[in-house]
Amino acid sequence: MLRLQPTLPTRYREASEDTLQSWIKAAREQLGEDLILLGHHYQREEVYRWADATGDSFKLAQYAAKNPSVKWIVFLGVHFMAESADILTRADQSVILPDLNAGCSMADMAAIEEVEECWEVIENTTDISRVVPITYMNSSAAIKAFVGRNGGAVCTSSNCRAVLEWALSRGDKVLFIPDQHLGRNTARAMGLTDEALWNPRLPNGGLDERSIKEATIVLWKGHCSVHQRFTPQMVADFRERHPGGQVIVHPECANEVVEMADQIGSTEGIKKIIGEADPGSIWGVGTEIHLVSRMSTEFAEQGKIVESLDPIVCPCSTMFRIDAAHLAWCLDALVRGDAINQIVVDPTTAADARVALERMLSIT
Ligand code: 13P
Ligand code: SF4
Repeated sequence: MLRLQPTLPTRYREASEDTLQSWIKAAREQLGEDLILLGHHYQREEVYRWADATGDSFKLAQYAAKNPSVKWIVFLGVHFMAESADILTRADQSVILPDLNAGCSMADMAAIEEVEECWEVIENTTDISRVVPITYMNSSAAIKAFVGRNGGAVCTSSNCRAVLEWALSRGDKVLFIPDQHLGRNTARAMGLTDEALWNPRLPNGGLDERSIKEATIVLWKGHCSVHQRFTPQMVADFRERHPGGQVIVHPECANEVVEMADQIGSTEGIKKIIGEADPGSIWGVGTEIHLVSRMSTEFAEQGKIVESLDPIVCPCSTMFRIDAAHLAWCLDALVRGDAINQIVVDPTTAADARVALERMLSIT
């Protein structure tokens, strides 16, 4: 998705790391309690260290919603997270994303026009009043609004099962957008196997009437390129290297990987489970490398070994866009009262999307 990120002024591009850190510190002090920084676990250390709150998508959304008196919220994360924070906060609060090009390739795999087209096909096939649309947090505000208007809810990796159970208590069928893996992994953990895969690149999603009718869950054919890299062979190799080790993966990984893992968790869940594990335990992790490296350093003190399942590092290239230079640049602007890179969801879209987000918050 095209977003226009202006080029950073030379002053920020050419500053040393120490200088950038000192500028961030000074701006933060000046902004005081008017500012909070929310940091996702995949962020680089140079910005993550400044976060007032860290967490997964769910925890950060809750945090944004619970701080109505803060004027500026700087999101150290990606676009859909900043949009959700804007939707959940008051009109007099501003949400800033230091680099507008920090998107999410999975979220970009579902466009609102494609989702509407899919809904129309399902509507022509089955009783639409019994279909509940569920969108993963990793989707645009327009899709969250669509879901809100059509009786559905948002979910995240930490509450997907509760949201799917809620959906199936209200209808017979779920349209799950956009991560096929999170949808499939959660549905299978609930004992559901009657799924259909909607491919937005094909006419009628590549599905015939019967498969749509018979499926309890229609999965959108989207994925995360970072998590799709993990393979069953990587799990097998880890187990060979560390026979007593445990494997924990994010539910955006493919089902055959999830099936082989000992535990599944959102980013916050992974951190918590390993944090609470026995000293000396050994972990092979299937998620983004910045979180894995941070845990490896942090938990080494407890004698734990934490390593990536993937021998070739797999950073999220969009999360990586947020760096100290962009953070210093937008904090300095806030000191001048200038909200650059503000993420604003139009009020109509925000109202419908809020319904879907608040349903999620109340379910979980
Ligand atoms: P979490 O909600 O688990 O942090 O996941 C967000 C995400 O984008 C993972 O790729
Ligand atoms: Fe999106 Fe994957 Fe990056 Fe998460 S890791 S923000 S799903 S591209």
